[in-house]
Amino acid sequence: MMSNTAEDMERLMARARSLHVPGPFVFGAATAAYQIEGAPKADGKGESIWDRFTRQTGVIVDDSTGDVACDHYRRWPEDIRLMRELGLGAYRFSLAWPRIQPDGAGKINAAGLDFYKRLIDGLTESGIEPFLTLYHWDLPQALQDRGGWYSRETSHRFADYADLVSRALTDRVQQWTTLNEPWTFCWSGYATGEDAPGLKDGAKGGLSASHHALLAHGLAVPAIRANVEGADIGIVLDLNTVIPASDKAADVAAAGRFEAAQNRWFLDALFKGRYPETMLDLCGGMLPEIRAGDSEIIAAPLDYLGVNIYRRSIMAAGSELPPLNFERVNPPGRYSAVKYEVWPESIEDILVYVHEQYGPKAIYISENGFATTAERVTPDGAIHDVLRAEYHIDHLDYMARAMRRGVPVKGYFAWTLMDNFEWAYGYSTPFGIVHVDFADQTRRIKFSGHVYAAIARNSSASQSAKPAA
Ligand code: FCB
Repeated sequence: MMSNTAEDMERLMARARSLHVPGPFVFGAATAAYQIEGAPKADGKGESIWDRFTRQTGVIVDDSTGDVACDHYRRWPEDIRLMRELGLGAYRFSLAWPRIQPDGAGKINAAGLDFYKRLIDGLTESGIEPFLTLYHWDLPQALQDRGGWYSRETSHRFADYADLVSRALTDRVQQWTTLNEPWTFCWSGYATGEDAPGLKDGAKGGLSASHHALLAHGLAVPAIRANVEGADIGIVLDLNTVIPASDKAADVAAAGRFEAAQNRWFLDALFKGRYPETMLDLCGGMLPEIRAGDSEIIAAPLDYLGVNIYRRSIMAAGSELPPLNFERVNPPGRYSAVKYEVWPESIEDILVYVHEQYGPKAIYISENGFATTAERVTPDGAIHDVLRAEYHIDHLDYMARAMRRGVPVKGYFAWTLMDNFEWAYGYSTPFGIVHVDFADQTRRIKFSGHVYAAIARNSSASQSAKPAA
């Protein structure tokens, strides 16, 4: 592993300047509402499951909440200035559903929506394209009180919400994402309970929530399409290349089960119109009601797939989430502060896999990033996060290889624009390319941010210098 020296920084900056990503291509950064906005009650906002979940002690490592977070609800103009300084072409953010519909149903709370109108207009005036995500985990608590993602009603409420928002923002937003990472919010929220709403109902919970989330997505797509002319509509999945821990039959089978649950359950449903047979056979008794016609709704044609990638998964036979019965194996190697193995090859592997097996029209890397423990600001106000800079360069390098193998990747969003509330890790594991001092909300572009800006500048310069094909 590299030491934190001026030479390393010089070497990485040189790599950044020579990295070439084939174009047209957009460089952006991503955030999510609950992780940055704060202002949990402003302008009539309703309670979300994350507002409720973080009130308990012992569920977030530092017992923190998103009540203030980056205070982005008030500081968004400064955050747009930062994006401009970084030379970003796009910004991926999410809407807090309870700002728009405080109880998850009924008419729009205009004051809540106005916040997003101001933000979107500010982005557009700055030449930064808004990539809007409708749902990044902060379900209105009122819907959770009626069953949350266990209930088909939530799928219909989501479709109504998507309809209202896409009508209201029809002339402002072209890039629409329905859901962020259904695997994570359904299984961590309803199977293992690490995330809100904290239910520990095992595979039955994960499967039931997953079906209703996919149904919500499928119902929302035609609504958005009808409301926004020329919209690009997609969904964001967190995908992993899965590798068996050994060639023992039991480990190979466990890796296959995990792969089917995390990747193929979602990909097959969205792109092939059916759930994987292996999952249906394995989990038969645990499935929610799947009605005739659900598969067709879920497989509504998409314009792009967003892929969040952080690591690879090495799996052995084990006892987690029966009947999936796997166990994650962490071989010696490099790990981030959230214990994700650093394995940049996985971005090329997953891109080629998705392209070959499912052929989405376009793919965005909608998140990719590296967590550290709390970072030190040097006396002259810098943050020398060389490991994060190296992580982004290495991943972009492997992503560009996939593109040269024919994968239609259209953009990359660094996770994340600025340090924020990292769910169960609270503020203990920053991922930002911009540092936030939570004592006074000072933002400082880190070394990784400068490196990322150099890559974005260099690639767009070389792309615009190229004659049109
Ligand atoms: C993803 C989430 C995002 C952030 C990163 C580190 O699973 O979508 O909100 O927490 O992980």
